[in-house]
Formats: sequence, C-alpha cells, structure tokens
Amino acid sequence: FDGDRMIHAMRIKDGKATYVSRYVKTSRLKQEEYFGGAKFMKIGDLKGFFGLFMVQMQQLRKKLKVLDFTYGHGTANTALIYHHGKLMALSEADKPCKFSSHNDVVKVLEDGDLQTLGLLDYDKRLKHSFTAHPKVDPFTDEMFAFGYSHEPPYCTYRVITKDGAMLDPVPITIPESVMMHDFAITENYSIFMDLPLLFRPKEMVKNGEFIYKFDPTKKARFGILQRYEKDDTNIRWFELPNCFIFHNANAWEEGDEVILITCRLGNPDLDKVNGYQSDNLENFGNELYEMRFNMKTGAASQKQLSVSAVDFPRINESYTGRKQRYVYCAILNSIAKVAGIIKFDLHAEPEISGKKQLEVGGNVRGIFDLGPGRFGSEAIFVPKEPGVSGEEDDGYLIFFVHDENTGKSEVNVIDAKTMSADPVAVVQLPSRVPYGFHAFFINEEQLAKQSA
Ligand SMILES: [Fe+2]
Repeated sequence: FDGDRMIHAMRIKDGKATYVSRYVKTSRLKQEEYFGGAKFMKIGDLKGFFGLFMVQMQQLRKKLKVLDFTYGHGTANTALIYHHGKLMALSEADKPCKFSSHNDVVKVLEDGDLQTLGLLDYDKRLKHSFTAHPKVDPFTDEMFAFGYSHEPPYCTYRVITKDGAMLDPVPITIPESVMMHDFAITENYSIFMDLPLLFRPKEMVKNGEFIYKFDPTKKARFGILQRYEKDDTNIRWFELPNCFIFHNANAWEEGDEVILITCRLGNPDLDKVNGYQSDNLENFGNELYEMRFNMKTGAASQKQLSVSAVDFPRINESYTGRKQRYVYCAILNSIAKVAGIIKFDLHAEPEISGKKQLEVGGNVRGIFDLGPGRFGSEAIFVPKEPGVSGEEDDGYLIFFVHDENTGKSEVNVIDAKTMSADPVAVVQLPSRVPYGFHAFFINEEQLAKQSA
C-alpha cells in the first residue's frame, strides 16, 4: 500500500511499442527526496505500539512544519482514471489522519513518455480524501466519486460534471469509520459499501493488530442513492451476510432491482495476509458474486459466481453502469499473486459445487494461464471499437507478466473473445516491472485531448 507511484507505461502505435517507467512526482515524493529518506507515515506501520508512535511522530512533524501537507500526502499509487482531458493518478490517501487530498495529474506525451503536471483540487472544492476508483459514465461523461474519513459522516459523495466541475459535497452518514475502497454506479443510482472492516486505533495499540479490523459479527450494508441527490435522506440501505469487498466489476438496473457484480471476501483479516505471511488464501475467500437489491421490497440476495480466488475485475467500460455480460478477473494463487486471467459469462449458470480448481465450463468462458513461476497484473480490456455498437467482448486484454524463472518482464496482449493461449502480441521489456495494483488504457483520441 505504501510504495511511491511508478507508472509503467506502454505506448502502442503503428506496430511499434514504446515502454517507459516514471515516478509520479507527488508532494510526498518530492519532500522525501529532499530529506533523502522516508518521513511520512506508512499504512504498513500502523500496527501495535509502533503504529501509535508513528501516528504521533507524523503529527509532530506536521506541527513543526517539517512535513508540508498543503499538497496532500498520498502516494498516488493505486489506480488511474481519465476524465475531462486529464489522466489522474489516484490513491485513497488520508489514513489515518485527516488531510486535504488532491489528485495528481499526469500527461502522456506523444512519444509515450509521462510527465507529472501537478495537482487537481477542482478549484479548491475537494477538501477530503478521494477514492482511487471513481466511475466515469460512458454515456454522460460525468464522473462519480467519494471519499471516506475517520470523522462523521465518514463518507462524502461527489459528482463531477462532464465539464470538470465538482458539485457540492453530499454527506453519506454511516455508523462508524470503515475502509471503503470502491463503489459502483448504475444509470440512476450510486452504490456505497458500508462493510465491517473497521478503523480501530485503540485495538491497534492494545492488541498489536493492524489499524483496520474486520468484525465478523456485523452485517455488510449497501446504500443506494439516486445519483443527483443533494443529501442522503432518501438513501436505501440493504443488508447481506458480512464480508469485505475491494473491487466491484459493475452494476446496473433491471426492473425494480439493482444488480452488483463484485469480488467478495468472506474473511478479510488483514493481519493474516500482512507481509505475505499467509500461505493459504482458502480461508480468506475472494470470489465473484452477484448481489441483487430490490428497490421496491427492500429485499437483498447474493449468489456465488466463481470457485477459486479472483479479484481485479474488469469489463468493457463502454458498459459501465449498464447491463453487460463478460467480466475478466485476475486469478489469485495461494500467495495472492496473479496466476492468470479468467473470463466469466454472466449469462451462463456457474458450476460451483464439487469443484476445487478453476476450469472452463459453466460460466467460465476462458482461462489464460501464465504458467509456472510467471505472474501478472490486472488485465485491462481494450475494445477494438469504442462504444457499445460492436460485440461486448470484441477486444484485447493487456497485462504485464513477470517470469520469476528468468527475471524477465513482458507485456501480453491476448484476444478477449477467444481467450486463446496464443497471445496476439508479446512485448519483451528491458527491465523488471514489479507486481502492482491497477492498470488503465487511454486511446489515441483521449491522448490527443489531454489538457495543456
Ligand atoms: Fe483497487
């Protein structure tokens, strides 16, 4: 969670590929470069007494003006999004202290190089943390986002117009401070996830645990709000069995129901996976699920769609917020490395019972296995033609692969329709690309439209 953001970028044009890796020049990185070492608190430090010490140390450094928080303190290391002519490098940022947050804007240059332009705070209207996973509606070009914090209302919802104007904050009141990594939109609604991974600084000190603690006795709550509401008076909350969710694939409406396709973790004890100490993801649980919320009756239900651990779900983003069919996930092996890419067909029934391994059949339309000792990144879906006129899966999946046997890294481009084991293209890279978080694609038109 704590690495400074280095973007590994590949520009593909006229049959040629150009690769570059550049740090995003965040305020945090620039200050630490000045000091010649790490000075900001790390999320990984927030365990036990040492965590308390690090919180106090950071507060002291802030008070003494050793560290400057004017331009945020985030690493921008989690995900990228393109909106209103700007490519933004995002991290959800403000843990555990509350600071202003800003989005770092990066420009992709014509030759494929990257340049950090600076910070985007929407004319000083953004004064809270900002999710790494905002949603852009492909039909309206609006962007929807939220931030979570450690003080009531604990969550704030924002709408950014297609012209890049951030509308007034909408407080989403939940009972206590939780980790909220993602959300979802449909044509008419925004969906917020109040899941019991709780901010518990006292338990961190008392029990030597991580600052976020999963409470298995609490229900998972999903709040559904009309997109343009000015407050949360009319939000509808639904309950499902407890879980945590890092990433949603998509959501849409069908009659009275709102459907959410998501990667659900049954037992997300972060203490057990801290530093890859766990060699077994089985108890962790991380499966694809369909969740249904009936806006008329208030009923909620869920259905398991995958057998083994999958996450980092991606879709053809021309369908964001609309009913669609195919989801592409990273297959997580026992130590949470990406062992392959799997394609699910939401129109087909899953075959869950009795199966231990992932196999083609049921709702699994294809598996691209990276092979022994080879691990990858999230696969982005790139449509051959933008928009929803063509076939939904007519496109490519692009991802980084690292071979631990040879120490070499590469980019693979595979056919998303056939999921053929024979890649469309493999680009050998001159240097190692570490395992990272999220990936993003911008097309030629978006590249040209970037703001000056
Ligand atoms: Fe994420």
